[in-house]
Amino acid sequence: MYGNTSLTEEEAKRLNTTEEDPVKLAEFEDRITRGEKIEPGDWMPKEYRKQLLRMIEQHAHSEIVGALPEGTWITRAPNFRRKLALIAKVQDEIGHGQLLYSAAETLGKTREQMLEDLLNGKSKYSNVFNYPALTWADVAVIGFLVDGAAIVNQVINSKGSYGPYCRALERICYEESFHLKQGHDNVVYLATGTKKQRAILQDAINRWYRPLLHFFGPPDRNSQHSEKLMKWKVKLASNDDMRNQFLDQYVPKIWELDLTFPDPNLKKNDEGIWEFSDPDWDEFKRVINGGGPCNKERLEVRRYAEEAGRWVRNALMNKNEKYVTPLA
Ligand code: COA
Repeated sequence: MYGNTSLTEEEAKRLNTTEEDPVKLAEFEDRITRGEKIEPGDWMPKEYRKQLLRMIEQHAHSEIVGALPEGTWITRAPNFRRKLALIAKVQDEIGHGQLLYSAAETLGKTREQMLEDLLNGKSKYSNVFNYPALTWADVAVIGFLVDGAAIVNQVINSKGSYGPYCRALERICYEESFHLKQGHDNVVYLATGTKKQRAILQDAINRWYRPLLHFFGPPDRNSQHSEKLMKWKVKLASNDDMRNQFLDQYVPKIWELDLTFPDPNLKKNDEGIWEFSDPDWDEFKRVINGGGPCNKERLEVRRYAEEAGRWVRNALMNKNEKYVTPLA
């Protein structure tokens, strides 16, 4: 046992809590066990704050960078109704960034610092948004499968222990469910269309398959943060479990349309677990560390937005106003 908590010394070292007040730590862990939400003013271990901030900040960046691949198709949408739906969706994604930055700010880092860390490469964002949207079918696949994957992850995370993050996620999931419907409608339309429409759809599915498997993070055996995040109920399912849930929901829907995933080994085994070929985890590492096909371009666009929008922020800012952390 370590201090007053049920942690062994070894566990406390792994969780980076050896310096914490054991009484407060035990009370905190009891609250988590009882399923209580932790709120911004409550006591929390430094490592809990650090982990949450890392994850929510990455999530917020993913929303604003994630709007870019689809955003490039607004001017080229095939008709007026598709254009309207896409504009609304992209706008929603930026709004999700707004909600998540507010939730992250409650942990003590300003939005300005977060955006600076996105641009200087200190903060990560989701691997999937570093791939190009080459055809209109990519918009359909992003809307259906990428948003579908995000919903699997976010519905699970929304049951977590940190109040502001959970509340932001509940609202986000509500909107994402509608994105999913428009993505599904778009996929079905192309799948039941001309030979060419089916061909561009199949091509897009082939290109997004591996990034989608990467989306849920490295296999559990290589996940650095899962142990802490799951102990403190920030994450309620492991990377492999979320990946499996996604495959379980979406593979049958793609097969139903007589489309395929580019993996001859993709199948559900007798225990109900999906098996697949190694999705090239080296590619995942390369992409999340800045070496994907569109990383440079994505950050350039964000950098331009920061610079071009500076005068607006300056004009809106009251120099004498004191910064107030949002309560989210
Ligand atoms: N894209 C980019 N980086 C990823 C990633 C992905 N899809 N999956 C994992 N990573 C990174 C992690 O951030 C971590 O790097 P870091 O230590 O430099 O921060 C590293 O890979 C090891 O992964 P792991 O220990 O498994 O990270 P995790 O426990 O945080 O789990 C997620 C990864 C994505 C499941 C988790 O962070 C999560 O649920 N995030 C919130 C949802 C989200 O951000 N969605 C993105 C867009 S909608």
